[in-house]
Amino acid sequence: MADTYVGAIDQGTTGTRFMVFDHSGQVVANAYEKHEQIYPEPGWVEHDPVEIWENTQEVVTKGLADAGVGAEQLEALGITNQRETTIVWDKETGKPVHNALVWQDRRTTDRVEEIQEEDKVEWIRGKTGLECDAYFSATKTEWILDNAEPLKMQSSRGADLRERAEDGELLMGTIDAWLIYKLTGNHITDVSNASRTMLYNIHDMEWDDELLEEFGVPKSMVPEVRPSSDESLYGHTDADGFLEEEVPVAGALGDQQAALFGQTCFDKGDAKNTYGTGAFYLMNTGSEAVASDNGLLTTVGFQMSGEPVQYALEGSIFIAGAAIEWLEDVDLINNAAQTAELARSVDSTDGVYMVPAFTGLGAPHWDGRARGTIVGMTRGTRKEHIVRATLESIAYQTRDLAEAMEEDSGVEMTTLRVDGGAVKNNFLCQLQSDIIQTDIARPQVDETTALGSAYAAGLAVGYWDTVDELRDNWQVDEEFSPEMEAEKADKMYDRWDDAVDRSRDWAQE
Ligand code: G3P
Repeated sequence: MADTYVGAIDQGTTGTRFMVFDHSGQVVANAYEKHEQIYPEPGWVEHDPVEIWENTQEVVTKGLADAGVGAEQLEALGITNQRETTIVWDKETGKPVHNALVWQDRRTTDRVEEIQEEDKVEWIRGKTGLECDAYFSATKTEWILDNAEPLKMQSSRGADLRERAEDGELLMGTIDAWLIYKLTGNHITDVSNASRTMLYNIHDMEWDDELLEEFGVPKSMVPEVRPSSDESLYGHTDADGFLEEEVPVAGALGDQQAALFGQTCFDKGDAKNTYGTGAFYLMNTGSEAVASDNGLLTTVGFQMSGEPVQYALEGSIFIAGAAIEWLEDVDLINNAAQTAELARSVDSTDGVYMVPAFTGLGAPHWDGRARGTIVGMTRGTRKEHIVRATLESIAYQTRDLAEAMEEDSGVEMTTLRVDGGAVKNNFLCQLQSDIIQTDIARPQVDETTALGSAYAAGLAVGYWDTVDELRDNWQVDEEFSPEMEAEKADKMYDRWDDAVDRSRDWAQE
């Protein structure tokens, strides 16, 4: 009998990846495709959901073909995705009525400030565990219903979108729901993605009627919520569709929760930090939803079929790897790999600090009007200093989160598991260890996001029996220990706080 595998679709902010894993968690196939970033106005970020679906089909087909794996060899498919990014589509035609509003999109900041002025912040936090911010799906859905029709995007019919939503003609969802719908025809999301909408009550574990009303989202629009690893299955791919096989779609996790799962952070106190477009530091808090006093989010970690929900504390940094992309955009570097060499070529930034608040500041500052800032430049400042300051900004932002996490959880971090594209950079890993004065462990399989969703799907169909089996698959690639004196790290970090203050409350619109 031919070997069998589990496939994972990882739909991220900059592109879509398909990976296939074997029973020992090793990578068998890997295909990737970027998609267009659409910036209609400053602070607005959109993706085309149709392009995302086309790219998904392309990478799955290519990944399987390159590896010589047939769709019939896939025991299950898992999905992981950029979270919060919101799509509204027509229930009948399956066509989006507007581009997706991406998690980084700040167009609803005014609306958020209105809610803040109405003193509803604690009310929202109590139900959802979230900071009231434009980051989440609630105000994005509201914006599409109230504003998208005049744009006459891909709406199949001309009628007012809010009216159509109220008549039950439209569906909404995050990217997982969109892909599950396209793959299986069913309108389903998982608990971790639902918890990022600011419409879902993470204590009652159901859509919150009061929040749906506040944001004008009819209940008929929201997907059914299922466990992240679902033995009852979300559905099957269509035998007449692009895969020409009925593959069970059995697991979904928001990408950061997937990385937590892929890093085998199954127990209370286990934590990881993922360096993608942004950086996301999550700690498993077990069956307790720990409220944060330090600007972190309380969120759903994951849920296995028939088991209680596992919660997490999360620190979300909006810009990490994207700051390196920006260096490339403005021609300071030719590629990301060059940053290590340039940063190493100078001993320090010579007092330059870079705060990459391009889309506002997330945890723990939560300032939607902060903007990117470089301070401390002199006539002697060179691009090497700016490159080094950019890498340092990623490490400082992570220290902001690490400190908040320790205070909220009472757990002292001894080793931090890291993953994501930027951790290929040894200079950054060492710098990170120096700045937070903690050991850093990089695993062999650094695509832990895809791995986590493959695990969720594979557990649902019995490809793997228990999570204990998965712990053995986690192998360290390299560990980094602090080489910098704690006093020096503290001193550098102190000035970071001052630089952050300079970036705050800048944008006027
Ligand atoms: O919350 C946003 C996050 O899910 C995006 O992750 O990896 O696409 O930067 P990434």
